[in-house]
Amino acid sequence: MPDSASANIFFKKLKKVPFLFFKNIKGDWTSYVKDCERLYKKHPEYTSDVNAKPWDKKGKSMTDDFKVYRDAGYTKHNSKIWKTTGKKEKLTLEWEEKIAEQLPLENYIVTPTLQTPGQTLPYHVDQFLYLKRNTNSEYILRFLIFMSEWKSGHYLLVNDEILHKWRAGDCYVWHPDSPHIASNNGLENKWTCNVTGVYKAKI
Ligand SMILES: [Fe+2]
Repeated sequence: MPDSASANIFFKKLKKVPFLFFKNIKGDWTSYVKDCERLYKKHPEYTSDVNAKPWDKKGKSMTDDFKVYRDAGYTKHNSKIWKTTGKKEKLTLEWEEKIAEQLPLENYIVTPTLQTPGQTLPYHVDQFLYLKRNTNSEYILRFLIFMSEWKSGHYLLVNDEILHKWRAGDCYVWHPDSPHIASNNGLENKWTCNVTGVYKAKI
């Protein structure tokens, strides 16, 4: 069970900063990215964009919100995102647990995510629909791991602060209420890995 006192302390700490560098997650990131590239080629249908139809009815309100992005000029050509949870049946890689066990989370979901060059995930706040429904916890948190060394043109904007120049395995976290934008304006694929779960005090 999560220790609510320490969860409160951690969430309060996150409220005070745009984002927090948590730690560098150990792993063979070069081979993990290769595994992800293979999975992407095998399952391109896990790609979505601002025209996406939800595979889950509960996701409907979220995709209705995409109208604001379409009205702003986002299209299927500049908002593509591929992730292993892009369809009902999650794709799983064998090293997911090795990564997640380095984080203070339980009931976690590991989601490798790809943005190809020219794609943007516009301004949003994470919803955590699946975990909220399944855990009822108020301490759901997402850690973001950068799977490769930073390349020029790869950015995140979190609470209006730029996050860039990361190292492979660097893991960041921010308060769940924080708006953010992810963009690949570079020349190479940008791979990140979300680990989302319920905060627990000790690992
Ligand atoms: Fe997000």
